[in-house]
Parts: sequence; C-alpha cells; structure tokens
Amino acid sequence: TLPTLACLVIGYLLGSIPFALVIGKVFYKTDVRNYGSGNLGGTNAGRVLGAKAGAAVIACDILKVVIAIAFSALISPSVSIWTGLAAAIGHCYPIFAHFKGGKAVATMFGFLLATSIFTFHNAWYLIVPLVVFLILLVLFKMVSLSSMCAAIASSLFITYMQWGHLPIIVASWMMSALILYRHRSNIRKIVHGEENKISWL
Ligand code: G3P
Repeated sequence: TLPTLACLVIGYLLGSIPFALVIGKVFYKTDVRNYGSGNLGGTNAGRVLGAKAGAAVIACDILKVVIAIAFSALISPSVSIWTGLAAAIGHCYPIFAHFKGGKAVATMFGFLLATSIFTFHNAWYLIVPLVVFLILLVLFKMVSLSSMCAAIASSLFITYMQWGHLPIIVASWMMSALILYRHRSNIRKIVHGEENKISWL
C-alpha cells in the first residue's frame, strides 16, 4: 500500500544521509573516504577525526534509524521493521554518496534500540548484542569482529524470542547478512591478522 511504500522510501532516504561524510566535511574539512578504511561509518570517523567525531557520527547514524522506525511504527510493527531494513540498505548504499556508504553497525544498533522501544517493549534485544560486542571488543580489540558477532547474536536472539514471527526474523537475518557482506574486506584482514585494532582499550 501507499503508506507502506512511503515509509520504505523515507527509511531508505534517511538511512542514506552519510553522517560520517557530512560531519567530516563540515566540521573537519576532511573526506573520511580518503583515510583509514575509507568507510563512511563511526569507527572510521573516530579513527580519522578523533573520538568526538566518531561518537557524533555513531549517535547521528543511530538516530536516523530510530526516527525512521518511530514514525513507521505508527502504521504497523511489521512496516517499521522493513523500514529499518530499508534504512540499513540506505546507509550501506546511500543515494547521497554515490551508493558507497557504511557497514550498517550503528544502523543495526538503532534498529534494535527502536524495535526494543516501539515493538518489543523489551530491552534485552539491545542488551544481548551490546554485551557480546563489548566482551569481544575487550578480548580482541577489533570493532569489525565484535560488530559481526553482535549482529549474529542479535539475530539468533530474535529468532529464539520471536519464533513464529517470520517478518522480524527474516528482516533481522537480512540485516546481519548485509553487515557480514559489507565487512568482507575486514574478514579478509582478520583472517590474515592484519585487521585494525583499537588502541584505547
Ligand atoms: O563501523 C564498522 C566497523 O565494524 C568496521 O569499520 O572502518 O574498521 O572497516 P572499519
């Protein structure tokens, strides 16, 4: 239907806003695509521009998905879930940045935050992947590895908790698959022991 289609398009467009690029260019006169991993995400913004910029990018990338899900949840829970996926696709393939965006990690966090609030009314959907992320980050110091494992953990948790609710299960695994696919250069580096490690932990 028309409202559903409108939500998906708005979700994609909101997700497409490349905050790593915007914040880098506006406040630091730097195009983060030319430095570090070249990724348009919070991790690379933090790596290239510093912690404050990284935190700002992550916060904005989370917020854009939360906004997309919050308004589409007014129509129905399943529309909001597909809108979240549309936002993740927009983040990875942004119409505003030649379809070369980020890796959907902050986006999935925003998706989990918003669905925890508006759909599931249960904070564990956010806490479980967050704990997995933090433990792996402390152990291995690789944001990419922690992100991929947290995404998979969240999809497993959703599958277990929402057994029978196919749309949310499918959307969540599609988001995890997107995250893994977008991390394929990181996976290669992890295998070869060349992946970037964070220095501040
Ligand atoms: O933010 C995505 C993260 O998992 C990896 O980013 O820049 O290290 O490839 P990056």
